[in-house]
Amino acid sequence: MKTIDDADFFDKRVIVRVDFNVPMKDGVVTDDTRIRSAIPTIKKLVGDGAKVILMSHLGRPSGNGFEQEYSLEPAARKLSDLIGRPVIFSNDTTGEGAIDKIASMSDGDILVLENLRFDSREKKNDEQFASDLASLADVYVNDAFGTAHRAHASTAGIAKFLPSYAGYLLTREVETITGMLENPVRPFVAVLGGSKVSDKIKVIDNLIDKADTIIIGGAMCFTFLKAQGADVGKSLVEDDWIEPCKAMLQKAKDRDTILLLPVDVVCATEIKSGAEVKVCNAYAIDNNLMGLDIGPKTIENYKLAISEAGSVFWNGPMGVFEIDEFAQGTKAIAEGLASNVDAKTIIGGGDSVAAVNKFNLADKMTFISTGGGASMELVQGDTLPGVAALG
Ligand code: 3PG
Repeated sequence: MKTIDDADFFDKRVIVRVDFNVPMKDGVVTDDTRIRSAIPTIKKLVGDGAKVILMSHLGRPSGNGFEQEYSLEPAARKLSDLIGRPVIFSNDTTGEGAIDKIASMSDGDILVLENLRFDSREKKNDEQFASDLASLADVYVNDAFGTAHRAHASTAGIAKFLPSYAGYLLTREVETITGMLENPVRPFVAVLGGSKVSDKIKVIDNLIDKADTIIIGGAMCFTFLKAQGADVGKSLVEDDWIEPCKAMLQKAKDRDTILLLPVDVVCATEIKSGAEVKVCNAYAIDNNLMGLDIGPKTIENYKLAISEAGSVFWNGPMGVFEIDEFAQGTKAIAEGLASNVDAKTIIGGGDSVAAVNKFNLADKMTFISTGGGASMELVQGDTLPGVAALG
């Protein structure tokens, strides 16, 4: 992968794919992490004297044209506030409107194109759309790690029409995650949670080969527990995934990888704030109860493994952490990572990022990925189309 340090962009029109798919409420950006993460690349290009054309998607609009709630204009305004310079906004992604605005840019100017997904050809990786985007610029840079697992016109197709480079964010994300997989500081502990084991089975499969210990929490633990013959009451179980879980337990044994499951869980009859909770043996949950968080003995076991780790990768909450009664497990994991100051701690996007933010521990982590889906695909051993296109 060539990176933006391999070139000088003076007087060039550089089209940069960023991931400005940020949470918004009533036209205001509520979490600007992804915008802030793109700024080092933007500053380097501005510093070189390039004309910087930024493009992104936001949400999942229908693809039949403009929809106010998915406009990228609030993200462009936020970027302008953060970077302290004017940012031009183009209502068009391609065609005369965009071409005219770009023609009036001076070296060092920044422009944001409207949401690429207003045009259905973006997600189809349409060749003509990719070529139209490419015709706006002299050079292409991909800095959208969060969207690198999508083979779309702006992340994959465009690269064949222009000299292409990886931006700083994309480079750092890929290097950090692949570095952790290929050459981890040992013991390497992976903490995996979330509700569905079907979403994580490939990740578990690959990590059994790489990690020393795998810690399982979240509702997905119940499919594993049931695979071991446990009574899990009303807890969420994916019956079709019991056999694959059995295979994972066997594989871990064969590879001498420790796979830790809960020994106790916090249960209730419903997922509700104020619900009456009971700590149950994870292998004998009453018929009317469901497990909604890991229990105190499990927390102790998991924290011990984390305290001895040289590196920790975490993806997925241990329970329904949005509700205080079921947040202790996730909080304890975040605290465990934060207090192992010697370990390299990597948070793999999504809900785990929300969790470390909720418990004000984000600044204690070594690295927080901006891409939930993309980091998972990387960890499960897949090649990301957005990265392959730069090769
Ligand atoms: C994300 O938030 O995961 C990325 O921006 C990709 O968005 P998508 O899942 O809508 O393709």
